[in-house]
This record gives sequence, structure tokens and C-alpha cells, in this order.
Amino acid sequence: MKNTKELRIGLIGCGFMGRTHSNGYKRVGDFFPELGYRPVLQAVCARNEEKVKAFAEQWGYKSVETDWKKMIERDDIDAIDICTPNDTHAEISIAAAAAGKMILCEKPIARNLAESQKMVDAIEKAGTKTTVWYNYRRLPAVTLAKQLIDSGKLGKIFHYRANFLQDWTINANLPQGGEGLWRMDAAVSGSGVLGDLLSHCIDTAMWLNGGIKDVSAMTETFIKERVHQLTGKVQQVTIDDACAFMCHFNNGSLGLFESTRYARGHKALYTFEINGEHASIRWDLHDLNRLEYFDNADEGIVKGWRSIHVTDGDQPYMSKWWVPGLGIGYEHSFVHQVADFLKSLETGEPCSPTFLDAHQTEKVCQAVSDSANSGSWKQTGVNF
Ligand SMILES: NC(=O)c1ccc[n+]([C@@H]2O[C@H](COP(=O)([O-])OP(=O)(O)OC[C@H]3O[C@@H](n4cnc5c(N)ncnc54)[C@H](O)[C@@H]3O)[C@@H](O)[C@H]2O)c1
Repeated sequence: MKNTKELRIGLIGCGFMGRTHSNGYKRVGDFFPELGYRPVLQAVCARNEEKVKAFAEQWGYKSVETDWKKMIERDDIDAIDICTPNDTHAEISIAAAAAGKMILCEKPIARNLAESQKMVDAIEKAGTKTTVWYNYRRLPAVTLAKQLIDSGKLGKIFHYRANFLQDWTINANLPQGGEGLWRMDAAVSGSGVLGDLLSHCIDTAMWLNGGIKDVSAMTETFIKERVHQLTGKVQQVTIDDACAFMCHFNNGSLGLFESTRYARGHKALYTFEINGEHASIRWDLHDLNRLEYFDNADEGIVKGWRSIHVTDGDQPYMSKWWVPGLGIGYEHSFVHQVADFLKSLETGEPCSPTFLDAHQTEKVCQAVSDSANSGSWKQTGVNF
């Protein structure tokens, strides 16, 4: 009988990601019945008792904690899932590793490279199993892009372009910091769009096209001061509102990346385009079931960009869902990551991206930040 072994989850943080992960844990067994393990919603932790109890009741968690340290001490929990703001990731994961727990951590793993180095050291010392929720890798169209590149269909890659555009911080009266707005406070988030949005683009890019060697970056903070929600005072804004960089990949291709929260009209427009010797591909989060593909080997009279609706059973993950032609959504990327994590418990393989993989993304983020501050090219130290 399958789905018999338990993976007892202790979830910390019950905001946006707490919900997407909980949905993943609840759905996975129904759609991946062959897996040996099944997640058990053992405990959820948040500081506000009333809120955490309501969350536990809504999603079916067996128990609650209001202090994550207590959750880590519990011996009825196998894996800690970190869904809290970025300033807590290092302390929680280092403690969880020392307590022998597996760790599923939200991205970016840390606020800066020094912090992520400490985390990597701790998990390596403890031999902890980890995964980081760079979930876009597990949307079928993005996974298909990986298969096309790895099969050699694009040939030598020349260009990689990615954007992640939003517009929610244009209002100068928006405060910074505190519940719901911690992304605006660099002391908590580490950076602005660089860690929040570009880290996703960098993770996908290095997964698809190999390591980024060096970068030349610029950042801008358009609104210099905002009221801080916690102090009530007008304080300097220290996040990057916008960040763009160009880079060389280790395979010789050129990269261009841009992210901003000031692109009026765009809510979460993540796009990438890759141009190779034989073919090109492009993808758009707003149309996430489609992968656009141009193959120069096509017969001349029908040559052109084709729009592949990635919903067929032959395509990644899709045999698990509906019938060909019917799409899936954002939330499924989290179900897929849970499924892959459970599968990795059986195979003993890493569930990529691990902390070590996410640490490579931190190296690029650090180089981008250093380059923007110094106005010069920076090596990333990423060697693959
Ligand atoms: N993979 C993705 O696409 C994606 C998307 C959004 C957010 N994230 C990441 O997920 C993490 C959480 O983001 P979010 O959007 O869910 O934030 P959120 O503000 O919606 O939720 C954070 C939750 O953590 C709780 N919290 C804060 N400090 C805590 C503590 N010390 N102990 C217990 N609970 C605490 C808050 O009360 C809140 O419930 C961040 O690292 C973020 O970068 C990833």
C-alpha cells in the first residue's frame, strides 16, 4: 500500500506561502497516489494565538504553537517548513538543522551571502535534507523548457532575458515595514526586488542555462522616505525599488535581467526568453500553461513561433492532472514540489533546489548588490 509512511510537517508562518504550502500538502496524495510518503499536518506556528488557531482549523493542522523554538523541540515533527519573512530564515533553519529536522525553506534563503553561508555550513554539518521553494521550476511549461534545452534542441545558447515586473509600491503614501509590508524594510527582507523577485529569475536561469559568471548592475530607490508602520516615524527607504543587471553565463551566453515594483499595469509579470543557435523559447507567467517555441529546422512555409499548450500527458507533470487541453495553475507548482520532495525521501536523491543550490543564487544576488553599489563588474564565484 502506498502513501503509508508519514512525513510530519511543522509549518512556521501562516500568510501567503503558509497557504500555498498547506494546499500542496493536502492535495499531493490525491494526485500522486504512488508516493510512499504522505505529509501529515502536524503543527502550525504563528505568534498570534487567535490567528494560528483559526488557520489550523481552516487547513486541518492537528496542533498549534506560538513560538517556533517550541515547535523545533517537538519530537513528533519530521520536517520544518519556513514560511516566515526573510530575517527569520537563518535562525530557524540553523536551529532546525541542529535538532535533526528536515527543512523546506522559502526563498530567498537569506538576506545576504554571509547569512546563507552560515545556513549552508549548519545543514552540511548536520547532514540535513533541504529544499527551497523556487517553485517556478515546477510549472510544466518551465520544466519543458529545461527538457528542450537539455536535449540540445536549442543548440548553443547566445542570450537569456528575464523580467519580473510589478507596480504595487508606486504610491508614495504606502508605509514600510511591519505585518504585510515587511518586504519594504531591508532590515527584514535584506533587499527589495533583488531578493524578492530577481532571485526567482536567477534560480530559473541558472537551472536552465548554467551558472552566472559575472554581473554589472544598477538599482534605484524611487521613493526615498516612507513612514515605518512599527515606529510611526518617517524613515529612509533602504530597499531597491528597481534592479537591472547584465551578465555573462559560464557557457558564454549573455544575460539581461530586470525587475521593478514601478512598472504601472504589471502585477506579477515574470517572463523569460532564451535564444539558441537552432531554436528559441519564451515563457510568460500570465499564460503559464504555454511555452512559445521557434525551431529554425521547421519547413520554410510554416516556420514561425509556435505556442505549445503544455497540457498533454507526455509533458512534465501533466499526466497527474486532467485530460489534454485543460490547464493548471500557480498553486500546482507547490503540489509538484511537495511530490518531488516526498519522492526524494524514497530515492535518497536531493530535492533541488537544495540550500546549496539556493546559496549559488545568493552569490549572484550579492554580486548584483555589490556591483550596483560600486558601479563596477563583479565576479559571482559560481562555478558550474
Ligand atoms: N515562492 C514564492 O513564489 C514566494 C512568494 C511569496 C513569498 N515568498 C517567500 O515566503 C516567505 C513568506 O512570505 P509571505 O508572502 O508568505 O509573507 P506573509 O507576510 O504573507 O506571511 C508571513 C507570516 O509569517 C508570520 N511570522 C512572522 N514572523 C514570525 C515568527 N517569528 N514566528 C512565527 N511566525 C512569524 C507572520 O505573522 C505571517 O503569518 C518570504 O521569505 C517570502 O520571500 C515566496
